[in-house]
Amino acid sequence: MFKLISLTIGFFIFSLLNTVIAHNHFPITTDSKLMIERGKIAYEKNCVSCHMINLAGAENWKGIDEEGHRKAPPLNGTGHTWHHDDKTLHAIIKYGLAKLVKNYEGKMIGFEDQLSDKEIHSILAYVKSFWPIDKYEYQINMSK
Ligand code: HEC
Repeated sequence: MFKLISLTIGFFIFSLLNTVIAHNHFPITTDSKLMIERGKIAYEKNCVSCHMINLAGAENWKGIDEEGHRKAPPLNGTGHTWHHDDKTLHAIIKYGLAKLVKNYEGKMIGFEDQLSDKEIHSILAYVKSFWPIDKYEYQINMSK
């Protein structure tokens, strides 16, 4: 009987944890002005040097730089950032492409040591605030 109870409790905690993890704050919306403001600050500190102040990416971003690496793409909705769901975007920013793509030699390194998950979420809210409504809604649906 005791075993059954502890099993039940165990299962209850497991499902609770699962729900918490599954919620995961995705999809990230642009509903919170505060989050967007925080994201702007973190973006301007960490991302501007490559993705530019207006999020338009490097000039001629489809080309390659003098070292043969791809240039920083726009994050403002004109590129393909909105084709990725929140989980993928979060991972690209947190871990960089080096951990996601084998033999990656490009410049998108991860920000695991500089940014908390919350800050990455805020940056994504800021980034999404630039997207046209159709791309925003498409990406939100994909991230659910
Ligand atoms: C040193 C330059 C550099 C910095 C700094 C940088 N990035 Fe990047 N980022 C890149 C490059 C280059 C790519 C393209 C990756 C590739 O193809 O190699 C990229 C790709 C991305 C992508 C994927 C975009 C897509 O459309 O597929 C996202 C999202 C992104 N960066 C977000 C950020 C954020 C957010 C920050 C700041 C926290 C940041 N990056 C800082 C260079 C940079």
